[in-house]
Amino acid sequence: MFSNKDIAQFADLETPFYYYDLSLLQRSLSACVEAAKVYDFHVHYAMKANFNDTLLKKIKEAGLGADCVSGNEVKKAIEVGFDKKKVVFAGVGKSDKEINGALDLDIFCFNVESVQELAVINELAEKRGKVAKVAIRINPNVDAHTHHNITTGLDENKFGVNSWDLPDCAEVLKVSANLEFIGIHFHIGSQITNLDVFKNLCVRINEFAKWFEERGFPVKVLNVGGGLGIDYQNPEQQIPDFAAYFKIFNDFLEKRPNQEVHFELGRAIVGQCSSLISRVLYVKNGKSKNFIILDAGMTELMRPALYQAYHQIENLSKQDGEASVKYDVVGPICESTDCFGKEVLLQETVRGDLIGIRSTGAYGEVMSSHYNLRENVRVAFSER
Ligand code: LLP
Repeated sequence: MFSNKDIAQFADLETPFYYYDLSLLQRSLSACVEAAKVYDFHVHYAMKANFNDTLLKKIKEAGLGADCVSGNEVKKAIEVGFDKKKVVFAGVGKSDKEINGALDLDIFCFNVESVQELAVINELAEKRGKVAKVAIRINPNVDAHTHHNITTGLDENKFGVNSWDLPDCAEVLKVSANLEFIGIHFHIGSQITNLDVFKNLCVRINEFAKWFEERGFPVKVLNVGGGLGIDYQNPEQQIPDFAAYFKIFNDFLEKRPNQEVHFELGRAIVGQCSSLISRVLYVKNGKSKNFIILDAGMTELMRPALYQAYHQIENLSKQDGEASVKYDVVGPICESTDCFGKEVLLQETVRGDLIGIRSTGAYGEVMSSHYNLRENVRVAFSER
């Protein structure tokens, strides 16, 4: 819910812009940190969800580590001040330049996604006289029951080392003097709302940990990835149930004493703390459809066009009236998929009304583009 004060503030700002509620971010962080502390779990923030500087600083101050997926994310994490002992680097295609950069920054660990990558990191580390800490990202073939395009842990996906390649991994690890094996890593998908999925993941993690330990590789770190979903249907449900989520891993992981459990959460931390605020340019009444044409498009928020993702849409200028008209809410971009919602029930809407598109904190601003030579996306912050 936006306060009247928020809406009055929006009226003076040039649209479209991402509006970040920093107090909500703070509350989400506190909830996450408190819930993880109960089991002494370590949380890394998946920077890919949102690398806005202001957010990153708050996340770092809350004590989280950083899960990075490119050389630039690693660099940024260090620049923002994340403790390098809490920076991990994942990614299915790390370039030599990116690996060298991360070696030079002495990050905590590389999450390695193929046998070939292990050999490359060993070679590059040797040239720099370094020993790289590595965790093997394993593809556990566990169905995340989420949108097909954001599923990552099935045999058909490109991510991680498949179980049948693990013996080769073990062989490379044995002969690689410049690699230190520290553990195993998993990430099966994003926007997971059925928590039972994580129980299945735990069962597989226990099997793989045993596999490595039996072959003489102590598993010091179990990195279970991220994926905890948020409630897009109900953005007022602001903070995910971190306690229930962490409890599953406590109950189902066969954790040895002194073994660390690491998480890489993105969406659950930042997803609800932002809305995309846009203005109505035109209202077009067609024969069978009414269109609201916004000044924001898929260039600002790509998720609906890319994944048919649902985001709640509100007319902020008509808070009290009855929602009685159905509109297709679209952007100005030259693509038919540039649509934020079809048949959205709203109050009678006119040119100039402010529209709020909710739950855009994760994979929103970071996925914006310049297609159609659009301007850089603007941002505004509030601390209530
Ligand atoms: N760890 C790894 C290795 C990942 O690939 C991801 C996300 C995460 C952690 C964080 O996942 P989260 O906690 O945020 O679910 N653009 C898509 C989502 C892509 C997710 C990519 N990987 C979307 O808008 O839904």
